[in-house]
Amino acid sequence: MKTLFALLGVLFIVLVAAGAGYIYSGAYDVSADTPDDAAVAWVVSTTRRYSLRARLTDIQPPANFDTPERVRAGLAKYHEDCEVCHGFPDHSPGPIGAGLNPKPPKLWGESGRGPRPGSVYWIVTHGIKMTGMPSWKHAYSDDDAWSVVAFVRTLPKLSADEYRREVQALPKKENETETSAAK
Ligand code: HEC
Repeated sequence: MKTLFALLGVLFIVLVAAGAGYIYSGAYDVSADTPDDAAVAWVVSTTRRYSLRARLTDIQPPANFDTPERVRAGLAKYHEDCEVCHGFPDHSPGPIGAGLNPKPPKLWGESGRGPRPGSVYWIVTHGIKMTGMPSWKHAYSDDDAWSVVAFVRTLPKLSADEYRREVQALPKKENETETSAAK
């Protein structure tokens, strides 16, 4: 019995040393343009999935959070802050979104995390570690966040042309240059 424990102890030390050796050797490739090692991808994506599942619990939206005014305010924010990574209907994101690993999902197909507004609100507010999804809590008031949620929920029904038209109808900002959606 004693020998077995001693052997297990030695095995454990060898495994920890090998793991540390691998980390400190710099062998792991962190470049974003190559896929993750399958085991690392599994650990990271499974951790993320279960972490979100535990946190995206029942957050209730405020009453009337999706009035047409709020949806329009959300469109302005989406166009300014989210389009760069998530693109817009029928349009892949530009070079920033394309260069991310993992890729930002389209928010208008089945991949939009359901119609549950509370989930989108949580993700927009807190962001998702181990991905490029930022937390917007330093930029958005609670009201802003719910406006973005209201807009994101309209995305599955929006065509590229409607999106472009609505973006063009937004009040112009000073010095605004041509945007991807206006092209
Ligand atoms: C810098 C790039 C970047 C920006 C800017 C960004 N996102 Fe994301 N977002 C991501 C990435 C990457 C993921 C994927 C995370 C993952 O794989 O779980 C993501 C995930 C999401 C998800 C979860 C979707 C799903 O089906 O898993 C939502 C909702 C979302 N983003 C909304 C937004 C909104 C709204 C904005 C603007 C306020 C925004 N994002 C801005 C990169 C970005």
